[in-house]
Amino acid sequence: MRLALDDILSWLREDDETRLEALWRLADDVRADAVGPEVHLRGLVEFSNCCSRHCLYCGLRAPSGDVSRYRLNEREIVASALLARELGYGTVVLQSGEDRFLDVHWLAHVVSRIKRETGAAVTLSIGERATGELEALRRAGADRYLLRFETSNPDLYARIHPAPPGGQGRDRLEMLRLLRTLDYEVGSGVMVGIPGQTWTDLARDIERFRELELDMIGVGPYIPHPGTPLGRAPGEHAAPPGDQVPATVDVTCRVLALTRLVRPMANLPATTAVTTLGDTDGQTLALQRGANVVMPNITPRTARREYTIYPNKAGMHDDPLTYRDRLLERIRRIGRVPGTGRGDSRYRRSRRAASSTAS
Ligand code: 5AD
Repeated sequence: MRLALDDILSWLREDDETRLEALWRLADDVRADAVGPEVHLRGLVEFSNCCSRHCLYCGLRAPSGDVSRYRLNEREIVASALLARELGYGTVVLQSGEDRFLDVHWLAHVVSRIKRETGAAVTLSIGERATGELEALRRAGADRYLLRFETSNPDLYARIHPAPPGGQGRDRLEMLRLLRTLDYEVGSGVMVGIPGQTWTDLARDIERFRELELDMIGVGPYIPHPGTPLGRAPGEHAAPPGDQVPATVDVTCRVLALTRLVRPMANLPATTAVTTLGDTDGQTLALQRGANVVMPNITPRTARREYTIYPNKAGMHDDPLTYRDRLLERIRRIGRVPGTGRGDSRYRRSRRAASSTAS
């Protein structure tokens, strides 16, 4: 749908309940037409919480002293992937901090084993990486890559993402375009309500989703972590009252709904952050207002406890099997169907069809 920036902006700031109801209905209709009733399930494995970056909002930032750092070994990661398969999840998402010491050849080997032994799609979410590394991981069989651009406002981006020690951050937009040329399914997204984010910034983020032609778009509320600079002094960073976006389930749902309208066939998760803030009701609302993916956490429990991007993360103590059963029940209760396949992006399928007709 061709929404102009001003339309997006006024929907974001809308507070008439009746009009919002119409937005929710429209987003849900577009979701049903474009991607159907399936809710795709992705098993999330947080395989390392080591991070070299200093992002002002994230509890895993390098200077956080009270995080006990871990890296899962090959056996543990493959066992988690096999568990994902047993639970019926068609995708394994391997996520970590941006670990400068991560051995990418080792990871490529792990990816190829997972592909061989489970047949699941593999998604990587491991931060900014060099071109050669991304090529090697794609060759090893990685199917998808997630890298949020976090905000389309360059000043705000620079304020909350100091360059890595002794280097320069990679231009994330450029990296997203590169991922596309390497034939990954490409995912990105933003946080809603980071201190300093204005309504106009957020409206531009949604336009950016469209411009980047993303396959997957992850949107969740910012949740303050008291051990981070943004969590300790939010007031110092906030936009003027009236301009600052609040980090709520409601605004997150507006962003999801509008994202569905501008990018109808994309895969949109009901994120862990929206579930943390709004509990399972937050997750359900997200699914009814545009989302079509859930990423249950299957990280071994002792490690999961230490993956503290923000405090009290949803699913911290859940048993994977019990969680799966409750989730399937919630999905069915809202008239939806748990996905059984890989849940590939429909955009990717149509890109493939277009390129095979052209050749
Ligand atoms: N609150 C919400 N989301 C966060 N992320 C990092 N820190 C926080 C926080 N405090 C998100 C970022 C990152 C993703 C993995 O988690 O958007 O890209």
